[in-house]
Amino acid sequence: MCGIVGYIGEKKAAPILLDGLSKLEYRGYDSAGIATIENGELSIEKCKGRLQNLCDKIQNGEALQGKIGIGHTRWATHGAPSDLNSHPHKCSQSLFTVVHNGIIENYLPLKEELTVHKHVPFVSETDTEVIAHLLSYYYNGNVLETIQRVINAVEGSFALGILCRDTPNTLYAVKKDSPLIVGKGNGENFIASDIPALLNYTKDFYLVDDGDIVMLKKDSLFFFDRKLHPLKKEPFVVDWDYSQAEKGGYAHFMLKEIHEQQKAVNDTVSERIGEEDIVFEDFHYGEDELKALHSIRIVACGSAYHVGVIGKYVIEKLARIPVEVDVASEFRYKNPILQKDVMYIMISQSGETADSLAAMREIRKQGYKVLAVVNVLGSSIAREADSVIYTHAGPEIAVATTKAFSAQLAVMDMLALKIAHVKETITKDAYKEALMTLRNIPARIETVVSNADKVKKLASRLKNVGSVFFIGRDIDYAVCLEGSLKLKEISYIHSEAYAAGELKHGTISLIEEGVVVVAIVTQPHVREKVISNIKEVKTRGAFVFAVANEGDEEIRDIVDFVYYIPKTNPVYTPSLSVLPLQVFAYCVAKEKGCDIDKPRNLAKSVTVE
Ligand code: AGP
Repeated sequence: MCGIVGYIGEKKAAPILLDGLSKLEYRGYDSAGIATIENGELSIEKCKGRLQNLCDKIQNGEALQGKIGIGHTRWATHGAPSDLNSHPHKCSQSLFTVVHNGIIENYLPLKEELTVHKHVPFVSETDTEVIAHLLSYYYNGNVLETIQRVINAVEGSFALGILCRDTPNTLYAVKKDSPLIVGKGNGENFIASDIPALLNYTKDFYLVDDGDIVMLKKDSLFFFDRKLHPLKKEPFVVDWDYSQAEKGGYAHFMLKEIHEQQKAVNDTVSERIGEEDIVFEDFHYGEDELKALHSIRIVACGSAYHVGVIGKYVIEKLARIPVEVDVASEFRYKNPILQKDVMYIMISQSGETADSLAAMREIRKQGYKVLAVVNVLGSSIAREADSVIYTHAGPEIAVATTKAFSAQLAVMDMLALKIAHVKETITKDAYKEALMTLRNIPARIETVVSNADKVKKLASRLKNVGSVFFIGRDIDYAVCLEGSLKLKEISYIHSEAYAAGELKHGTISLIEEGVVVVAIVTQPHVREKVISNIKEVKTRGAFVFAVANEGDEEIRDIVDFVYYIPKTNPVYTPSLSVLPLQVFAYCVAKEKGCDIDKPRNLAKSVTVE
């Protein structure tokens, strides 16, 4: 997704803008640019490709003067990646300059109106350029009123950074659906798409809500609603420091975050699991409400959806209530049948995924409460949900999620246990034992991750395979979904996750000499069945890499490579069995020389449809 930064203060803006953009590279982009104003003169430098191209072009910002500016990394939606389509975009008179994250859905009729009837010369194929020209067209000398008119005219999602040459000491910003935060400094102020962009400069932030218009001067901030009524906002302090969002000596953010999982899960569970109970801080479901629950519905995208599928197995096993899991992009358009006595749960690392945000709004519009499981503090989904359980995974930079995934899994485990305890579908002893198990999961995660190097030699052997199948039954199948996605998204190797019992209904026709099959065999009640499925593919020439429980020696004689995980309560094995799959995907991608932290075509937070 696009990244936005803005600065106004006493320092040279360009180097700060470039630094901020470098912290947003993980969002995925194909071009970058910045604009500054100095002595009433506007300067814009932008180019296709990596941010380093822009840094080289302007000597790391030294070539651009000015103590006010905006910057952008573009993830192309309208118009191919090119210098001309890069942001910032300006109007013909160079009066207004804009950076934009989101999509202007009615840009074509607006562009036609401006082009045909107002003879405005467009230079790019982007939707964003319409905003720059509209600002100029509506300009009446009052920038705030002009902005207000423009955002009333456009439809879609937009986080905007705006410069106006008539007000060189003022930076403007607008938020609707796309993420935007304000950073407060000492004699300087900032805007950005995400917190990591500004952690080198401030820890004091303001949340910007949909419809807000922000006016930033170097030593003051003003917030307005869409009617230009002043808004009072309280700052919040972020307890991250940027080193947490730096690589910390690892080759990639993904590897660092794989190794941070023990801490991420421990920070997520330790404060919440007491001797006798599980307490969530912002959880507005009383015991009677939990007792009355007749089902749960989970809505999410990608890996967060896979957490939902695993959560389905855990909740149904422990709390004995049916769970439905929906892909958010499907849910929001299927005219969903919503009912009372259902707990609706959104799972999202970024809290900004457009499909998930829209799905949540649909549920709330119909009058139902939503519980959000989110990692990013103050993100849109977190702010609009009725209850929020934050994962405490810290900033997750790699596009491929690992530590946030594991932290989300831990939340689902705790939630399932809490509901089971209230509904008395498990005994008090089993509950106490489960609390102990959950408290020990972080240590077991550390054990698995620290031994995961065994997977490395396997990866070098398999890096050129054309396709990989992930098979498992029951909760292991749900983990296969995540293992398959991890491999696909960072190594670009095609793979499929299959319920092992389903292979014989078609897919086994694809199994031949040399095909790689990853089999997860951790569930005792279906172990024999999975072993039969493994034998079926082995006899047809497959190379099988199994993830199994320590002590299961029989597996070693059946497969080509086995990775053992510590034995634990079967319902909690996903927190462990997913780890070698993460490392496997990482090692294969590294062997292939892929851009692991920023895989092609992908973005960390998909804030557009
Ligand atoms: C997972 O590795 C991917 N980055 C992607 O599937 C991601 O899980 C999905 O886009 C959902 O993102 P969210 O959790 O921020 O909503």
